[in-house]
Amino acid sequence: MNVDMFNGFFKGKRVLVTGHTGFKGSWLSIWLHELGAEVIGVGLDPYTEKDNYVLSGIGKKIKADLRADIRDGEKMKAIFREYQPEIVFHLAAQPLVRLSYEIPVETYETNVMGSINVMEAVRVTDAVRVVVMITTDKCYDNKEQMRGYKEDDPFGGYDPYSSSKGACEIAIQSWRRSFFNPEDYGKKHHVSLASVRAGNVIGGGDWAKDRIVPDCIRALEAGKPIEIRSPKAVRPWEHVLEPLSGYMLLAQKMWEHPTEYCEGWNFGPEQDSISTVWEVATELVNNFGKGELRDISDSNALHEANLLMLNIDKAKSRLGWKPTLNSKQTIALVADWYKKYQEEDVYGLCVKEIEKFLN
Ligand SMILES: NC(=O)c1ccc[n+]([C@@H]2O[C@H](COP(=O)([O-])OP(=O)(O)OC[C@H]3O[C@@H](n4cnc5c(N)ncnc54)[C@H](O)[C@@H]3O)[C@@H](O)[C@H]2O)c1
Repeated sequence: MNVDMFNGFFKGKRVLVTGHTGFKGSWLSIWLHELGAEVIGVGLDPYTEKDNYVLSGIGKKIKADLRADIRDGEKMKAIFREYQPEIVFHLAAQPLVRLSYEIPVETYETNVMGSINVMEAVRVTDAVRVVVMITTDKCYDNKEQMRGYKEDDPFGGYDPYSSSKGACEIAIQSWRRSFFNPEDYGKKHHVSLASVRAGNVIGGGDWAKDRIVPDCIRALEAGKPIEIRSPKAVRPWEHVLEPLSGYMLLAQKMWEHPTEYCEGWNFGPEQDSISTVWEVATELVNNFGKGELRDISDSNALHEANLLMLNIDKAKSRLGWKPTLNSKQTIALVADWYKKYQEEDVYGLCVKEIEKFLN
């Protein structure tokens, strides 16, 4: 079966992925590696021995598996100069809302200054043509409204994580206007810079704290009840391969038409996958055929958004991208990884899941 929906575009391309040791970055690196790209990964050590990066062994397969802190601007420049990537996917971040209340300064240093360091490294690297900066749906000023956020809605953010990503979006906009302006393309620079915003991404190999899927799996494996903090919170859930397919398609379009796509893009799910935390946990339990949910909501808990939806009309109409899986298929594919990771070769499992997703 074929995992290439990009007609050979990535074959032989030098692609730098920041955050390749993390959840989304490991999947992206596996997919790019399967497509024949020369992947250069830049990240910190993985969090646990059960992370997708560790179990899949992707670090040993790619061209370079580097440990570096994106807060170190000089180090970023040195890496970019040495490896001369043509395409950059920037995913490295402190991505957790609740943790951001504990380490707000580090969250800002990583998400804002780290992202600026990556863009500054791009400026000193001749080879770079395409840069896709990964932020989040939480970058928008959340008014708990019933309609999905559009790409031109104002940025904002209540907690340090969300606001750091809003700030990151403002920096991206500024760097695009100041240094990678499409009007100056081919004269002063040759870089196409975009930012992408996904919803709540779920999939195999994520063990982050305070995320619903890892919380469910940990409880299921320990034979304990699954404690649900915000049962009624509504989120745009999507399988990790959905936004990744969007990021990669966008990169291809940017390469081919550098001044047409260098802007912000939402890659969220269809309306039917916008559901509550409780519904997602229930569907996971159904897939595993075991488990019990317990509502532990607390009115004094840290603020987290209740309602968050993304409008994806722009990606559909201009990129021809759309989500592939409905909500039941999404949860079934997520459950598939966690049911099998202890028995199967995890790299092969991920490739099979990419094939399943594409077919
Ligand atoms: N998972 C989601 O639901 C979701 C949704 C929307 C957006 N995002 C964004 O997608 C990206 C990836 O998220 P994820 O869920 O894979 O997170 P993750 O925590 O699994 O991975 C984060 C990666 O960033 C690296 N990293 C963190 N701090 C770093 C630093 N100072 N220097 C270098 N590397 C550093 C880590 O080593 C890891 O490789 C993030 O930018 C996140 O904000 C995630």
